[in-house]
Amino acid sequence: MDLPATPAPAAQKPTLLIIDDERGPRDALTMLLRHRFTILTAESASAALDVLNSQPIDLITLDQKLPDRQGLDLLQDIKQHHATVEVIIITGYGSLTSALEGIRHGASGYLLKPFNVTEVLSLVNQTINKKQRLDFLRNFLKTSTGLWGSETECAQDWNILFAGYQAIGTTASDQLSHTEERPNLLPILSDLLEAKDRQLLLHSSRVSAYATLVGSRLNLTRTEQQSLAWGAFLHDIGKISPDTPHPTGEAIAVAGEALGNPQHSEQGAKLMLSLGVAAEVGQIIAYHHERWDGSGHPYGLKEAGIPQLARIVCLAQAFDHLTEEHPGRTPLSLDEACQRLRAHAGTHFEPTLTELFVQAVQESKGSLPPMAITATPALRASH
Ligand SMILES: [Fe+2]
Repeated sequence: MDLPATPAPAAQKPTLLIIDDERGPRDALTMLLRHRFTILTAESASAALDVLNSQPIDLITLDQKLPDRQGLDLLQDIKQHHATVEVIIITGYGSLTSALEGIRHGASGYLLKPFNVTEVLSLVNQTINKKQRLDFLRNFLKTSTGLWGSETECAQDWNILFAGYQAIGTTASDQLSHTEERPNLLPILSDLLEAKDRQLLLHSSRVSAYATLVGSRLNLTRTEQQSLAWGAFLHDIGKISPDTPHPTGEAIAVAGEALGNPQHSEQGAKLMLSLGVAAEVGQIIAYHHERWDGSGHPYGLKEAGIPQLARIVCLAQAFDHLTEEHPGRTPLSLDEACQRLRAHAGTHFEPTLTELFVQAVQESKGSLPPMAITATPALRASH
């Protein structure tokens, strides 16, 4: 005789909030997802905010068009005040551009209407798995002091971190897999950046893409190119330390340098070297705020004393800080940002490299916006 399956207690299920003013999509999503989630619904932006302010929510599906507000506008509010809630945008073919805009504003993905059942289940599963990994990492980062302590303490905390991360259900492609002798660190490091702040992950991905773009025009060996992509992606990893403020709240200096925790270069390099990354990668992280004229930090290195790969990443991160969106600050256009870099050539930046960088981004204008929302393919391929 078949025994009825025992349903999981409702309290253990994650909570999904469906924000949609139309009944059809609300019912469709409820039917598909009620076995896995406790489901709440809201028909307007203001009703959704009431729910968010009254109880913890794990995941939201957000319709782009709501009676009282645009979905994108509500998304920014949610990401500002409930940053750890994951949001999936629901959209029609006609508004795909704004769905992509939503990803830039922190949504984790989008679904097209009418729904494709496989797509819905796969994206929702991926997103809730990610939420669980990020919650674990956020908690860990809040409480771990070992990562920033002595060599032994650091190694101990990495071991605890890896074990906990692997114990969380992940999809096959996300697993911390071991290739050859070294583990693939990309998933966990990418998740650590995102756990600190999704904008930090997006910044890191874009900087890696810009640096790779310029690196491909130089006579670099394959190993150097890989170190460049990897080091650029990890340049700000030191910002995951608990004493670093929310990166998007930082003041941006004249040449696009994000201020904040001045130790992040050294701390980041130490943290990554403890995982056995290549020395060149450690150098990029340690020296990405050094300036051509010696006025940078933390070591005050000068001209050729700064490794070339770090000089490239210095330009790439400055360019991204100038062009990225921050609440309350208008980003510079690509041309304005290039002018700003040129104005600091010879002081902050190596002059020849600055020209090469400006040329490379201007010639790749057309492909820069998609680059700004996706992780760098070069990095994925190289690691
Ligand atoms: Fe930095």
